[in-house]
Amino acid sequence: MQDCFKRNIDYLRVSLTSNCNLRCQYCMPEQKIKQTEEMLSQKDLIHLVELISSTGIKKIRLTGGEPLLYPNIEDLIIRFKAIQGIEKIVLTTNGILLSNKVDVLKKAGISGINLSLDCIDKDLFREITRGGDIDKVLLGIKLAQKENISLKINSVIMQGINEKEIIPLIEFANDNKIDLRFIELMPMNVAKNFKAVKEDDLKAIISKKYGALKQIDVFEGPAHYYQVENLSIKIGFISALSHKFCANCNRLRLTSTGILKPCLHYNSGVNLNDLLKKNVTDEEILAIIKDTIYHKPKNHHLENEAFSQKEDKSMSLIGG
Ligand code: GTP
Ligand code: 5AD
Ligand code: SF4
Repeated sequence: MQDCFKRNIDYLRVSLTSNCNLRCQYCMPEQKIKQTEEMLSQKDLIHLVELISSTGIKKIRLTGGEPLLYPNIEDLIIRFKAIQGIEKIVLTTNGILLSNKVDVLKKAGISGINLSLDCIDKDLFREITRGGDIDKVLLGIKLAQKENISLKINSVIMQGINEKEIIPLIEFANDNKIDLRFIELMPMNVAKNFKAVKEDDLKAIISKKYGALKQIDVFEGPAHYYQVENLSIKIGFISALSHKFCANCNRLRLTSTGILKPCLHYNSGVNLNDLLKKNVTDEEILAIIKDTIYHKPKNHHLENEAFSQKEDKSMSLIGG
């Protein structure tokens, strides 16, 4: 359905858990925070996704935290795929558990996987992720490619942390024929301790090494894409601050605790889990879902420092 700004809202991002098996320095605090809110049961999760999807959702992305921590995620994929109107189920993962899951994900009918990978250097990976083993991710990528699962790599580049990995990441992606997107760090929670490398600076580095960037028309999601003279892959940028994409936003989010969020940076949201617990009827819940979609905020205010100071939620809680 359309929101009040005539944006077509047909993409649901479902965060299956706020837990993660890595603790990337820009995403998670060092110590685990005990989650106090109750997680949705699998039955309620499926029920809510069915209700939300009935408003015209076509694509569902499973996120987290780390979605592959969800027990038998393949069962969920099968259930979600069976919902009327759903054309694609996709996944965003850090890849640590991917190698063991590739075959079941493929069998369940996954349409694509976005992998978060911020460097290629083994030691730096361990440092950024506070202990992660990059070889597991690389094996997962290799096996997913063998199964012909469509892949994209997401990289967040931070000043003084992984700038020297820009070229190795491009080389890796190009050698393996995987499109690569650079995500501009958004100033939320612990990410405020780091400084993003901006899109224009990335483009300057890329064009110096690989030649001219030519923008191409790919109208999918928040990324805009370029063909680069001496590369065979597409390079994309997701730049929520320097190239705001809210005017074309088609998304809705459901957190693992059942909060329906019409916008990533929108502090509140409706707690659908509470409504289920209070035995509110499906008709009433659907009306609340539609109202939430209709009143989706026009844009984020991350560029406004006073506003972003109040933004204490990390990406892992909201579902990237
Ligand atoms: P596809 O276009 O379907 O491939 O998905 P995607 O790129 O939106 O999904 P992915 O999970 O790979 O997200 C990549 C990055 O984009 C993450 O850092 C997300 O936080 C960010 N992102 C995704 N959706 C939004 C959004 O609605 N607003 C903002 N500000 N960032 C978003
Ligand atoms: N800004 C931008 N991207 C972020 N991610 C996590 N935290 C942030 C942030 N503050 C990214 C991860 C992953 C995706 C799901 O979200 O790197 O690629
Ligand atoms: Fe859409 Fe909100 Fe994200 Fe902007 S910040 S792109 S409006 S979800």
